[in-house]
Amino acid sequence: MAVDIQSPALCIGIVGTGAMGRGIAQIAAQAGIRVLLFDALHGAAAGARETITGTLGKLAEKGKITAAALAAASAKLEVVSRLDELASAQIIVEAIVENLDVKKALFQQLEDIIAADCILATNTSSLSVTSIAAACKRPERIGGFHFFNPVPLMKIVEVIDGLLTAPWVSAALLALGQRMGHTAVRAKDTPGFIVNHAGRGFVTEALRIVGEGVTDFREIDRVMREVAGFRMGPFELMDLTGLDVSQPVMESIYNQYYQEPRYRPSALAAQRLAGGLLGRKTGRGFYNYSNGTPEPPPAAAVPVAIATSVWVSQTHPEWADVLREIAATAGIEVETDYTPGSKALCIVTPLGEDATTACVTQGLDPGRTVAIDCLFGIATGRTARRTLMSTPLTTAAMRDAAHALFAADGTAVSVIRDSAGFVAQRIVACIVNIGCDIAQQRVASPADIDRAVTLGLGYPKGPLAFGNALGAMKVLSVLEAMQDFYGDPRYRPSPWLKRRALLGVSLLTEEA
Ligand code: NAI
Repeated sequence: MAVDIQSPALCIGIVGTGAMGRGIAQIAAQAGIRVLLFDALHGAAAGARETITGTLGKLAEKGKITAAALAAASAKLEVVSRLDELASAQIIVEAIVENLDVKKALFQQLEDIIAADCILATNTSSLSVTSIAAACKRPERIGGFHFFNPVPLMKIVEVIDGLLTAPWVSAALLALGQRMGHTAVRAKDTPGFIVNHAGRGFVTEALRIVGEGVTDFREIDRVMREVAGFRMGPFELMDLTGLDVSQPVMESIYNQYYQEPRYRPSALAAQRLAGGLLGRKTGRGFYNYSNGTPEPPPAAAVPVAIATSVWVSQTHPEWADVLREIAATAGIEVETDYTPGSKALCIVTPLGEDATTACVTQGLDPGRTVAIDCLFGIATGRTARRTLMSTPLTTAAMRDAAHALFAADGTAVSVIRDSAGFVAQRIVACIVNIGCDIAQQRVASPADIDRAVTLGLGYPKGPLAFGNALGAMKVLSVLEAMQDFYGDPRYRPSPWLKRRALLGVSLLTEEA
């Protein structure tokens, strides 16, 4: 069986015309597809049609679409007042309330109305497509069709194969997503599908860093934007989404995977949710929005301090060379002996280790040791910010001297307390590791994982490409050192990452 997705006469039904249903209807109508709109709430479907034509009208006013396109798309939208008027649709997409029993009941009702080859698609983001389909007489015709809010701007749709979904159903939904102008990726029916699963590392690890007392949320946001290249820091993101939305997603995915430590949520976020500090929507989250925009973060003053001399660890010779050059340019004497002199500031460059471990294993004086994160690029002009961390015994004078040294060329510096993996190393390693494990579980193809994450989460790179850019072996080292230090299975490397790192191949490599 197959539906001709490219047919000019294609007709789809949308049940539930709230935020998501409206968005899906808009892009379908713009793609020349006839759309029947139904909502259980009297007048809601007609209201949705008005809203969509209003949105299209504004696009036409701004010159983003032509008047002819506005007229053509508007003519494709039809309101129906009874469910049985959807009988002529070849695909029905539900975007009703997120409740398993209500969705099951709707699909059971629709099965008595629709044609034999009509596809029933669900826009659910957190329910199992397989469970919804289980209530139907013909579960093979049910598939997931998961869009993101706002639909016209978030140009990605996940097509979900339930355990019983027929291949022709997924093929039709992939083609439909593409006809609507979106990138359609295919995923197995697993908690969080691709995007909401892949998003677990960013926020949970950031909360963990705060919970560990390493630094505050502002510093983490700065590092993730300026060092790792994210558009928004994890705390800015939580404020935008609202903890009332993100905390339940964190808990749901963690519990659906039977308390998988990689997805473990944080007590800090639960408490803030209980306290009503939801984010932008309540005027206060991590940041204060009482004046509309968050208060400008206080700029960290660069201390006036000078090291007598500096010695750089040779654990990563390529980084040591760059650091010595920075020090020489700043006018600081660079020691080149195998061991540091008695007054030297000692710089270590750990991957996944904390400053203390690096200092002790290299036999250095903890009072004079400062670690610097080199994984994301360290040379002058190559990074907007550098991250330094001290051991619990590093003197304030040595810490300040390191700060002044690495800020001398105008680069911003974040100084944090000791942390296995600094800030950016540990958060990005968690993101790469979870992306790799999604590939390992065969939830989706490596290419689809990266496509879904860049479009759905707006990360600078997909998790697998990010791992490749940093070096799979380096990411593996970060995770192994973190697991060793914390003894937490949260950081255990995915077999997908470990094998490809050992073989020296791209993380996008699939088996033949
Ligand atoms: P919404 O609350 O804005 O709209 C839901 C609409 O469905 C309402 O107009 C309501 O009257 C109607 N409705 C409820 N029960 C119905 C029934 N039994 N039959 C017919 N109509 C019914 O909800 P929203 O945000 O549009 O979400 C809809 C679905 O999309 C949910 O399953 C949600 O999980 C999913 N989703 C939502 C996203 C979001 O960011 N809002 C993102 C991705 C998926």
